[in-house]
Amino acid sequence: MDNMVYFFDTTLRDGEQSPGATMNLQEKLRLAHQLEVLGVDIMEAGFPASSPGDFASVRTIAEQAGDIQVAGLARCVDGDIDRCWEAVKVARRPRIHTFLSTSPLHMKHKLRKEPEVVLQMIEAGVRRCASYTDNVEFSAEDASRSDRDFLCRVVETAIKAGATTINLPDTVGYAQPDEFAALIKYVIENTPNSDKAIFSVHCHNDLGLAVANTLAALRVGARQAEVTIGGIGERAGNAALEEVVMALRVRHDLYHLEHHIHTEQLYPSCRLLSMTIGQPIANNKAIVGANAFAHESGIHQDGMLKNRETYEIMTPQSVGRTESSLVIGKHSGRNAVRNKFESMGYKLDDEQLQLVFEAVKKLADCKKTLHDDDLMALVQEEVYRMPDRFRLRHVSVQSSDAGGVPPTAAVLMDIDGMERSGAGFGVGPVDAIFNVINDMLGREPELEQYAINAITSGTDALGEVTVRLGEGNFKAVGRGAHPDILVASARAYVNALNNLAKKEKEGERLHCQHG
Ligand code: KIV
Ligand code: ZN
Repeated sequence: MDNMVYFFDTTLRDGEQSPGATMNLQEKLRLAHQLEVLGVDIMEAGFPASSPGDFASVRTIAEQAGDIQVAGLARCVDGDIDRCWEAVKVARRPRIHTFLSTSPLHMKHKLRKEPEVVLQMIEAGVRRCASYTDNVEFSAEDASRSDRDFLCRVVETAIKAGATTINLPDTVGYAQPDEFAALIKYVIENTPNSDKAIFSVHCHNDLGLAVANTLAALRVGARQAEVTIGGIGERAGNAALEEVVMALRVRHDLYHLEHHIHTEQLYPSCRLLSMTIGQPIANNKAIVGANAFAHESGIHQDGMLKNRETYEIMTPQSVGRTESSLVIGKHSGRNAVRNKFESMGYKLDDEQLQLVFEAVKKLADCKKTLHDDDLMALVQEEVYRMPDRFRLRHVSVQSSDAGGVPPTAAVLMDIDGMERSGAGFGVGPVDAIFNVINDMLGREPELEQYAINAITSGTDALGEVTVRLGEGNFKAVGRGAHPDILVASARAYVNALNNLAKKEKEGERLHCQHG
Protein backbone atom coordinates (compact mmCIF):
# COMPACT_ATOMS: atom_id res chain seq x y z
CA MET A 1 0.00 0.00 0.00
CA ASP A 2 1.78 3.18 -1.03
CA ASN A 3 -0.03 5.30 1.54
CA MET A 4 1.33 3.20 4.43
CA VAL A 5 3.90 4.88 6.70
CA TYR A 6 6.28 2.49 8.49
CA PHE A 7 7.40 3.54 11.93
CA PHE A 8 11.03 2.83 12.73
CA ASP A 9 11.68 3.41 16.40
CA THR A 10 15.23 4.18 17.50
CA THR A 11 14.60 4.82 21.21
CA LEU A 12 16.88 1.91 22.08
CA ARG A 13 19.72 3.24 19.92
CA ASP A 14 19.64 6.98 19.15
CA GLY A 15 17.38 7.52 22.17
CA GLU A 16 19.72 5.68 24.50
CA GLN A 17 22.52 8.00 23.36
CA SER A 18 20.82 10.94 25.08
CA PRO A 19 22.44 11.99 28.36
CA GLY A 20 21.12 10.02 31.32
CA ALA A 21 19.01 7.64 29.21
CA THR A 22 21.18 4.55 29.61
CA MET A 23 19.09 1.41 30.20
CA ASN A 24 20.05 -2.00 31.49
CA LEU A 25 19.17 -5.17 29.59
CA GLN A 26 15.99 -5.92 31.52
CA GLU A 27 14.78 -2.38 30.97
CA LYS A 28 15.57 -2.57 27.26
CA LEU A 29 13.69 -5.85 26.95
CA ARG A 30 10.67 -4.38 28.67
CA LEU A 31 10.70 -1.36 26.37
CA ALA A 32 11.23 -3.56 23.31
CA HIS A 33 8.14 -5.53 24.28
CA GLN A 34 6.16 -2.32 24.66
CA LEU A 35 7.28 -1.17 21.19
CA GLU A 36 5.71 -4.34 19.79
CA VAL A 37 2.51 -3.71 21.72
CA LEU A 38 2.51 -0.16 20.38
CA GLY A 39 2.60 -1.45 16.81
CA VAL A 40 6.02 -0.15 15.75
CA ASP A 41 7.10 -1.77 12.45
CA ILE A 42 10.86 -1.76 13.00
CA MET A 43 12.83 -1.21 16.19
CA GLU A 44 16.48 -0.33 16.16
CA ALA A 45 17.78 -2.31 19.12
CA GLY A 46 21.28 -0.83 19.28
CA PHE A 47 24.72 -0.57 17.69
CA PRO A 48 26.26 -4.04 18.15
CA ALA A 49 29.84 -3.14 17.22
CA SER A 50 29.99 -0.25 19.67
CA SER A 51 30.53 -2.38 22.78
CA PRO A 52 30.17 -5.96 24.04
CA GLY A 53 27.24 -4.79 26.19
CA ASP A 54 25.41 -3.37 23.18
CA PHE A 55 26.05 -6.52 21.17
CA ALA A 56 24.61 -8.67 23.95
CA SER A 57 21.52 -6.54 24.38
CA VAL A 58 20.77 -6.37 20.64
CA ARG A 59 21.13 -10.12 20.41
CA THR A 60 18.86 -10.79 23.38
CA ILE A 61 16.24 -8.36 22.11
CA ALA A 62 16.42 -10.02 18.68
CA GLU A 63 16.00 -13.47 20.25
CA GLN A 64 12.93 -12.45 22.19
CA ALA A 65 11.23 -10.28 19.54
CA GLY A 66 8.05 -11.43 17.84
CA ASP A 67 7.02 -10.25 14.40
CA ILE A 68 8.51 -6.78 14.70
CA GLN A 69 11.58 -6.17 12.50
CA VAL A 70 14.75 -5.80 14.57
CA ALA A 71 17.47 -3.55 13.18
CA GLY A 72 21.05 -3.13 14.33
CA LEU A 73 23.19 -0.17 13.34
CA ALA A 74 26.57 -0.63 11.62
CA ARG A 75 29.09 1.73 10.08
CA CYS A 76 29.72 0.93 6.44
CA VAL A 77 32.72 -1.27 7.24
CA ASP A 78 33.04 -5.05 7.20
CA GLY A 79 33.71 -5.53 10.91
CA ASP A 80 30.64 -3.55 12.00
CA ILE A 81 28.40 -5.21 9.45
CA ASP A 82 29.49 -8.73 10.41
CA ARG A 83 29.03 -7.99 14.09
CA CYS A 84 25.62 -6.46 13.45
CA TRP A 85 24.46 -9.51 11.55
CA GLU A 86 25.71 -11.82 14.33
CA ALA A 87 23.51 -9.88 16.75
CA VAL A 88 20.31 -9.48 14.71
CA LYS A 89 20.22 -12.71 12.73
CA VAL A 90 18.37 -14.55 15.51
CA ALA A 91 15.35 -12.26 15.10
CA ARG A 92 12.39 -13.51 13.06
CA ARG A 93 12.72 -10.44 10.84
CA PRO A 94 16.26 -9.00 11.09
CA ARG A 95 17.47 -5.82 9.39
CA ILE A 96 20.97 -4.41 8.98
CA HIS A 97 21.07 -0.62 9.05
CA THR A 98 24.35 0.67 7.69
CA PHE A 99 25.38 4.31 7.34
CA LEU A 100 28.06 6.57 5.94
CA SER A 101 28.39 10.34 5.75
CA THR A 102 27.74 12.01 2.42
CA SER A 103 28.01 15.77 3.07
CA PRO A 104 31.15 17.61 1.88
CA LEU A 105 31.86 18.64 5.47
CA HIS A 106 31.67 15.12 6.89
CA MET A 107 33.50 13.50 3.97
CA LYS A 108 36.37 15.97 4.20
CA HIS A 109 36.78 16.34 7.97
CA LYS A 110 35.26 13.25 9.55
CA LEU A 111 35.94 10.53 6.98
CA ARG A 112 38.86 12.25 5.23
CA LYS A 113 37.79 10.53 2.03
CA GLU A 114 37.08 11.69 -1.51
CA PRO A 115 33.44 11.42 -2.68
CA GLU A 116 34.33 8.67 -5.16
CA VAL A 117 35.88 6.60 -2.37
CA VAL A 118 32.75 7.12 -0.28
CA LEU A 119 30.66 5.77 -3.15
CA GLN A 120 32.87 2.70 -3.36
CA MET A 121 32.57 2.13 0.39
CA ILE A 122 28.78 2.38 0.17
CA GLU A 123 28.63 -0.07 -2.69
CA ALA A 124 30.92 -2.58 -0.91
CA GLY A 125 29.26 -2.16 2.50
CA VAL A 126 25.69 -2.49 1.28
CA ARG A 127 26.66 -5.47 -0.85
CA ARG A 128 28.09 -7.16 2.22
CA CYS A 129 24.85 -6.48 4.15
CA ALA A 130 22.83 -7.86 1.23
CA SER A 131 24.91 -11.04 1.29
CA TYR A 132 23.39 -11.68 4.72
CA THR A 133 19.80 -10.45 4.29
CA ASP A 134 17.48 -8.76 1.82
CA ASN A 135 16.32 -6.40 4.58
CA VAL A 136 19.00 -3.71 4.29
CA GLU A 137 18.73 -0.04 5.14
CA PHE A 138 21.31 2.49 4.07
CA SER A 139 21.53 5.94 5.71
CA ALA A 140 23.34 8.85 4.08
CA GLU A 141 24.49 10.56 7.26
CA ASP A 142 24.15 14.37 7.14
CA ALA A 143 22.01 14.03 4.00
CA SER A 144 20.40 17.43 4.56
CA ARG A 145 23.80 19.13 4.08
CA SER A 146 24.84 16.94 1.16
CA ASP A 147 24.97 17.94 -2.49
CA ARG A 148 21.66 16.90 -4.09
CA ASP A 149 23.11 15.33 -7.19
CA PHE A 150 25.79 13.50 -5.25
CA LEU A 151 23.03 12.24 -2.94
CA CYS A 152 21.19 10.84 -5.98
CA ARG A 153 24.35 8.95 -6.98
CA VAL A 154 24.72 7.68 -3.40
CA VAL A 155 21.13 6.45 -3.33
CA GLU A 156 21.36 4.85 -6.77
CA THR A 157 24.56 3.04 -5.72
CA ALA A 158 23.06 1.81 -2.44
CA ILE A 159 19.90 0.52 -4.11
CA LYS A 160 21.91 -1.22 -6.85
CA ALA A 161 24.01 -2.89 -4.16
CA GLY A 162 20.91 -4.22 -2.41
CA ALA A 163 19.47 -1.59 -0.05
CA THR A 164 15.70 -1.83 0.25
CA THR A 165 15.26 1.19 2.52
CA ILE A 166 17.03 4.49 1.96
CA ASN A 167 17.19 6.84 4.91
CA LEU A 168 17.98 10.52 4.44
CA PRO A 169 18.73 11.95 7.89
CA ASP A 170 18.80 15.53 9.01
CA THR A 171 21.62 14.51 11.32
CA VAL A 172 22.29 17.92 12.83
CA GLY A 173 18.72 19.26 12.85
CA TYR A 174 19.63 21.98 10.34
CA ALA A 175 16.89 21.57 7.71
CA GLN A 176 13.72 23.64 7.38
CA PRO A 177 10.48 21.86 6.43
CA ASP A 178 9.98 23.22 2.88
CA GLU A 179 13.62 22.83 2.02
CA PHE A 180 13.80 19.31 3.47
CA ALA A 181 10.66 18.21 1.61
CA ALA A 182 12.13 19.62 -1.61
CA LEU A 183 15.33 17.62 -1.06
CA ILE A 184 13.47 14.34 -0.48
CA LYS A 185 11.27 14.97 -3.54
CA TYR A 186 14.30 15.81 -5.66
CA VAL A 187 16.14 12.62 -4.68
CA ILE A 188 13.08 10.43 -5.28
CA GLU A 189 12.44 12.03 -8.66
CA ASN A 190 16.04 12.12 -9.86
CA THR A 191 17.36 8.72 -8.80
CA PRO A 192 16.68 6.27 -11.63
CA ASN A 193 15.99 3.21 -9.41
CA SER A 194 14.20 5.05 -6.56
CA ASP A 195 11.04 2.96 -7.08
CA LYS A 196 12.98 -0.08 -5.75
CA ALA A 197 13.31 1.24 -2.18
CA ILE A 198 11.28 2.78 0.58
CA PHE A 199 12.44 6.28 1.46
CA SER A 200 12.88 7.13 5.11
CA VAL A 201 13.71 10.22 7.13
CA HIS A 202 15.45 10.60 10.48
CA CYS A 203 15.25 14.14 11.82
CA HIS A 204 17.01 15.67 14.80
CA ASN A 205 15.48 18.44 16.83
CA ASP A 206 18.26 21.01 17.21
CA LEU A 207 16.02 23.80 15.90
CA GLY A 208 12.81 22.26 17.26
CA LEU A 209 11.76 21.12 13.77
CA ALA A 210 12.23 17.36 13.86
CA VAL A 211 8.51 16.54 13.75
CA ALA A 212 7.75 19.27 11.19
CA ASN A 213 10.54 18.05 8.92
CA THR A 214 9.42 14.43 9.24
CA LEU A 215 5.84 15.30 8.34
CA ALA A 216 6.97 17.49 5.43
CA ALA A 217 8.97 14.56 4.05
CA LEU A 218 6.04 12.16 4.41
CA ARG A 219 3.91 14.52 2.31
CA VAL A 220 6.29 14.23 -0.63
CA GLY A 221 6.79 10.48 -0.66
CA ALA A 222 8.90 9.33 2.30
CA ARG A 223 7.22 6.24 3.76
CA GLN A 224 9.34 5.42 6.78
CA ALA A 225 9.62 7.74 9.78
CA GLU A 226 12.51 7.25 12.18
CA VAL A 227 11.41 8.43 15.58
CA THR A 228 11.83 7.91 19.31
CA ILE A 229 9.41 7.75 22.20
CA GLY A 230 9.13 11.18 23.75
CA GLY A 231 11.61 12.51 21.17
CA ILE A 232 14.66 11.46 23.22
CA GLY A 233 17.93 11.16 21.36
CA GLU A 234 21.33 12.62 20.66
CA ARG A 235 21.59 16.34 21.73
CA ALA A 236 18.10 17.92 21.40
CA GLY A 237 16.66 14.57 20.42
CA ASN A 238 14.79 13.03 17.50
CA ALA A 239 11.27 13.40 16.13
CA ALA A 240 8.78 12.27 18.78
CA LEU A 241 6.87 9.18 17.67
CA GLU A 242 3.67 10.21 19.46
CA GLU A 243 3.63 13.63 17.79
CA VAL A 244 4.16 12.33 14.26
CA VAL A 245 1.54 9.61 14.74
CA MET A 246 -1.10 11.93 16.15
CA ALA A 247 -0.49 14.54 13.45
CA LEU A 248 -1.17 11.83 10.86
CA ARG A 249 -4.28 10.73 12.69
CA VAL A 250 -5.78 14.12 13.58
CA ARG A 251 -4.97 15.58 10.14
CA HIS A 252 -5.78 12.51 8.10
CA ASP A 253 -7.74 14.87 5.83
CA LEU A 254 -4.42 16.43 4.84
CA TYR A 255 -1.97 13.51 4.84
CA HIS A 256 -4.19 10.58 3.75
CA LEU A 257 -1.57 8.26 5.25
CA GLU A 258 -2.06 5.05 7.22
CA HIS A 259 0.10 3.34 9.85
CA HIS A 260 0.11 0.39 12.24
CA ILE A 261 0.47 2.28 15.53
CA HIS A 262 -2.12 1.63 18.25
CA THR A 263 -2.52 5.20 19.43
CA GLU A 264 -4.02 4.22 22.79
CA GLN A 265 -0.59 2.76 23.63
CA LEU A 266 1.15 6.12 23.17
CA TYR A 267 0.77 7.40 26.70
CA PRO A 268 1.63 4.05 28.37
CA SER A 269 4.75 3.86 26.18
CA CYS A 270 5.88 7.38 27.08
CA ARG A 271 5.24 6.76 30.78
CA LEU A 272 7.18 3.53 30.68
CA LEU A 273 10.15 5.26 29.08
CA SER A 274 9.98 8.15 31.51
CA MET A 275 9.93 5.74 34.46
CA THR A 276 12.74 3.68 33.02
CA ILE A 277 15.16 6.52 32.39
CA GLY A 278 14.00 8.57 35.36
CA GLN A 279 13.21 11.64 33.29
CA PRO A 280 9.79 13.19 33.89
CA ILE A 281 7.55 14.13 30.96
CA ALA A 282 7.35 17.95 30.74
CA ASN A 283 3.90 19.24 31.69
CA ASN A 284 3.50 21.04 28.37
CA LYS A 285 4.76 18.15 26.22
CA ALA A 286 2.44 17.64 23.24
CA ILE A 287 0.18 14.55 23.41
CA VAL A 288 1.50 13.13 26.69
CA GLY A 289 2.29 16.07 29.02
CA ALA A 290 0.14 16.53 32.15
CA ASN A 291 -1.34 19.74 30.71
CA ALA A 292 -1.94 18.48 27.17
CA PHE A 293 -5.63 17.92 27.91
CA ALA A 294 -6.07 20.32 30.86
CA HIS A 295 -8.26 23.35 30.29
CA GLU A 296 -7.55 26.16 32.72
CA SER A 297 -9.07 29.31 31.26
CA GLY A 298 -12.74 29.98 32.03
CA ILE A 299 -13.57 30.66 28.38
CA HIS A 300 -11.99 27.36 27.33
CA GLN A 301 -13.75 25.44 30.09
CA ASP A 302 -17.07 26.96 29.08
CA GLY A 303 -16.46 26.00 25.45
CA MET A 304 -15.49 22.47 26.44
CA LEU A 305 -18.67 22.01 28.44
CA LYS A 306 -20.75 23.08 25.44
CA ASN A 307 -18.85 20.94 22.96
CA ARG A 308 -15.46 19.25 23.55
CA GLU A 309 -14.38 19.91 19.98
CA THR A 310 -14.24 23.65 20.64
CA TYR A 311 -10.85 23.24 22.30
CA GLU A 312 -9.94 19.57 21.92
CA ILE A 313 -8.65 18.22 18.60
CA MET A 314 -8.25 14.66 19.95
CA THR A 315 -9.53 12.83 22.99
CA PRO A 316 -7.31 11.80 25.92
CA GLN A 317 -8.63 8.25 25.41
CA SER A 318 -7.32 8.15 21.85
CA VAL A 319 -3.74 8.43 23.17
CA GLY A 320 -4.31 6.08 26.09
CA ARG A 321 -4.73 8.62 28.86
CA THR A 322 -7.28 6.76 30.90
CA GLU A 323 -7.05 5.56 34.45
CA SER A 324 -7.92 1.90 34.42
CA SER A 325 -10.96 0.91 36.47
CA LEU A 326 -9.09 -2.01 38.03
CA VAL A 327 -7.99 -0.48 41.34
CA ILE A 328 -5.23 -2.12 43.31
CA GLY A 329 -5.03 -1.62 47.07
CA LYS A 330 -4.43 -3.34 50.37
CA HIS A 331 -7.08 -6.00 49.85
CA SER A 332 -6.23 -7.02 46.31
CA GLY A 333 -5.40 -10.69 45.84
CA ARG A 334 -2.59 -12.24 43.86
CA ASN A 335 -4.82 -12.83 40.84
CA ALA A 336 -6.02 -9.23 40.72
CA VAL A 337 -2.40 -8.09 40.90
CA ARG A 338 -1.40 -10.48 38.11
CA ASN A 339 -4.33 -9.33 35.93
CA LYS A 340 -3.55 -5.72 36.57
CA PHE A 341 0.06 -6.10 35.50
CA GLU A 342 -1.01 -8.10 32.45
CA SER A 343 -3.41 -5.33 31.46
CA MET A 344 -0.43 -2.95 31.70
CA GLY A 345 1.61 -5.16 29.38
CA TYR A 346 3.80 -6.95 31.98
CA LYS A 347 4.00 -10.71 31.76
CA LEU A 348 5.36 -11.82 35.13
CA ASP A 349 6.51 -15.32 35.97
CA ASP A 350 5.59 -16.77 39.39
CA GLU A 351 8.76 -15.62 41.09
CA GLN A 352 8.44 -12.09 39.71
CA LEU A 353 4.76 -12.03 40.66
CA GLN A 354 5.65 -12.99 44.23
CA LEU A 355 8.21 -10.18 44.48
CA VAL A 356 5.79 -7.65 43.08
CA PHE A 357 2.87 -8.90 45.16
CA GLU A 358 4.84 -8.48 48.39
CA ALA A 359 5.94 -4.99 47.34
CA VAL A 360 2.34 -4.05 46.44
CA LYS A 361 1.19 -5.10 49.93
CA LYS A 362 3.95 -3.10 51.58
CA LEU A 363 3.23 0.00 49.56
CA ALA A 364 -0.53 -0.34 50.01
CA ASP A 365 0.04 -0.19 53.77
CA CYS A 366 1.14 3.43 53.50
CA LYS A 367 -0.84 4.43 50.38
CA LYS A 368 -4.57 3.78 50.02
CA THR A 369 -4.91 3.44 46.27
CA LEU A 370 -2.12 2.52 43.93
CA HIS A 371 -2.15 4.30 40.56
CA ASP A 372 -0.84 2.72 37.38
CA ASP A 373 2.28 4.87 37.71
CA ASP A 374 2.95 3.60 41.24
CA LEU A 375 2.69 0.04 39.98
CA MET A 376 4.95 0.73 37.04
CA ALA A 377 7.58 2.22 39.36
CA LEU A 378 7.25 -0.77 41.62
CA VAL A 379 7.73 -3.41 38.93
CA GLN A 380 10.64 -1.41 37.62
CA GLU A 381 12.19 -1.46 41.08
CA GLU A 382 11.49 -5.09 41.96
CA VAL A 383 11.84 -6.96 38.69
CA TYR A 384 13.87 -5.05 36.15
CA ARG A 385 17.00 -4.64 38.17
CA MET A 386 20.14 -6.64 37.41
CA PRO A 387 21.82 -8.61 40.22
CA ASP A 388 23.70 -6.09 42.27
CA ARG A 389 26.97 -6.05 44.22
CA PHE A 390 25.53 -3.64 46.76
CA ARG A 391 22.14 -3.95 48.36
CA LEU A 392 20.57 -1.40 50.64
CA ARG A 393 18.81 -2.97 53.60
CA HIS A 394 17.91 -0.02 55.83
CA VAL A 395 18.57 3.65 56.07
CA SER A 396 17.69 5.95 58.91
CA VAL A 397 18.23 9.70 58.82
CA GLN A 398 18.10 12.48 61.35
CA SER A 399 17.58 15.98 59.92
CA SER A 400 18.72 18.96 61.94
CA ASP A 401 18.58 22.75 61.85
CA ALA A 402 20.54 23.18 65.08
CA GLY A 403 24.02 24.67 64.71
CA GLY A 404 26.68 22.18 65.72
CA VAL A 405 24.38 19.15 65.32
CA PRO A 406 24.76 18.10 61.70
CA PRO A 407 22.26 15.85 59.92
CA THR A 408 23.10 12.20 60.58
CA ALA A 409 22.56 8.99 58.62
CA ALA A 410 22.91 5.33 59.53
CA VAL A 411 22.98 2.72 56.78
CA LEU A 412 22.77 -1.06 56.77
CA MET A 413 23.69 -2.74 53.49
CA ASP A 414 25.04 -5.92 51.89
CA ILE A 415 28.36 -5.51 50.12
CA ASP A 416 29.25 -8.52 47.98
CA GLY A 417 27.00 -10.64 50.15
CA MET A 418 28.38 -9.40 53.53
CA GLU A 419 26.21 -7.35 55.85
CA ARG A 420 27.84 -4.03 56.82
CA SER A 421 26.70 -0.95 58.72
CA GLY A 422 27.92 2.62 58.96
CA ALA A 423 26.96 6.04 60.26
CA GLY A 424 28.07 9.61 59.60
CA PHE A 425 27.22 13.24 58.94
CA GLY A 426 26.60 15.60 56.08
CA VAL A 427 25.59 19.18 55.33
CA GLY A 428 22.07 17.89 54.67
CA PRO A 429 20.33 14.53 55.10
CA VAL A 430 20.97 13.41 51.50
CA ASP A 431 24.62 14.40 51.78
CA ALA A 432 24.84 12.43 55.04
CA ILE A 433 23.44 9.28 53.38
CA PHE A 434 25.76 9.54 50.39
CA ASN A 435 28.81 10.18 52.64
CA VAL A 436 28.08 7.12 54.76
CA ILE A 437 27.66 4.88 51.70
CA ASN A 438 30.88 6.25 50.17
CA ASP A 439 32.78 5.56 53.39
CA MET A 440 31.41 2.03 53.58
CA LEU A 441 32.44 1.29 49.99
CA GLY A 442 35.71 3.24 50.15
CA ARG A 443 34.98 5.28 47.04
CA GLU A 444 34.16 8.83 46.15
CA PRO A 445 32.38 9.21 42.81
CA GLU A 446 31.38 12.64 41.57
CA LEU A 447 27.68 13.40 41.97
CA GLU A 448 26.83 14.94 38.58
CA GLN A 449 23.06 15.09 38.87
CA TYR A 450 20.43 14.64 41.54
CA ALA A 451 16.73 15.05 40.74
CA ILE A 452 13.49 14.28 42.58
CA ASN A 453 10.21 13.72 40.82
CA ALA A 454 6.81 12.99 42.41
CA ILE A 455 5.42 10.09 40.42
CA THR A 456 1.79 10.58 41.39
CA SER A 457 -0.05 13.44 43.07
CA GLY A 458 -0.74 13.94 46.79
CA THR A 459 1.51 14.05 49.85
CA ASP A 460 1.66 10.24 49.92
CA ALA A 461 2.97 10.19 46.34
CA LEU A 462 5.87 7.94 45.43
CA GLY A 463 9.00 10.03 45.08
CA GLU A 464 11.41 9.00 42.38
CA VAL A 465 15.03 10.08 42.64
CA THR A 466 17.53 9.99 39.79
CA VAL A 467 21.23 10.21 40.47
CA ARG A 468 24.05 10.45 37.95
CA LEU A 469 27.57 9.58 39.08
CA GLY A 470 30.91 9.87 37.33
CA GLU A 471 34.17 8.14 38.24
CA GLY A 472 37.18 8.13 35.95
CA ASN A 473 35.99 7.36 32.42
CA PHE A 474 32.68 5.93 33.57
CA LYS A 475 29.28 7.42 34.20
CA ALA A 476 26.17 5.73 35.51
CA VAL A 477 22.61 6.63 36.32
CA GLY A 478 20.67 5.21 39.24
CA ARG A 479 17.04 5.44 40.20
CA GLY A 480 15.07 4.74 43.33
CA ALA A 481 11.41 5.09 44.22
CA HIS A 482 9.80 5.20 47.66
CA PRO A 483 7.18 7.33 49.45
CA ASP A 484 10.06 8.66 51.64
CA ILE A 485 12.33 10.70 49.39
CA LEU A 486 15.36 10.07 51.60
CA VAL A 487 14.94 6.31 51.20
CA ALA A 488 14.39 6.89 47.46
CA SER A 489 17.65 8.91 47.43
CA ALA A 490 19.59 6.13 49.15
CA ARG A 491 18.18 3.53 46.73
CA ALA A 492 19.02 5.69 43.72
CA TYR A 493 22.57 6.21 44.96
CA VAL A 494 23.16 2.51 45.58
CA ASN A 495 21.61 1.69 42.20
CA ALA A 496 23.97 4.16 40.48
CA LEU A 497 26.96 2.64 42.30
CA ASN A 498 25.91 -0.83 41.15
CA ASN A 499 25.60 0.39 37.58
CA LEU A 500 28.98 2.08 37.82
CA ALA A 501 30.51 -1.16 39.11
CA LYS A 502 28.96 -3.10 36.20
CA LYS A 503 30.30 -0.62 33.67
CA GLU A 504 33.77 -0.75 35.16
CA LYS A 505 33.65 -4.52 35.06
CA GLU A 506 32.59 -4.66 31.46
CA GLY A 507 35.34 -2.15 30.65
CA GLU A 508 32.69 -0.28 28.74
CA ARG A 509 33.38 3.35 27.85
CA LEU A 510 30.21 5.39 27.80
CA HIS A 511 30.84 7.48 24.76
CA CYS A 512 31.81 4.85 22.27
CA GLN A 513 28.59 5.16 20.26
CA HIS A 514 28.06 7.14 17.08
CA GLY A 515 25.24 8.63 15.10
O1 KIV B 1 21.41 11.13 13.00
C1 KIV B 1 21.84 10.30 12.19
O2 KIV B 1 22.23 10.61 11.07
C2 KIV B 1 21.87 8.92 12.62
C3 KIV B 1 22.21 7.90 11.57
C4 KIV B 1 23.10 6.85 12.10
C5 KIV B 1 20.94 7.35 10.99
O3 KIV B 1 21.56 8.61 13.75
ZN1 ZN C 1 20.39 10.24 14.71
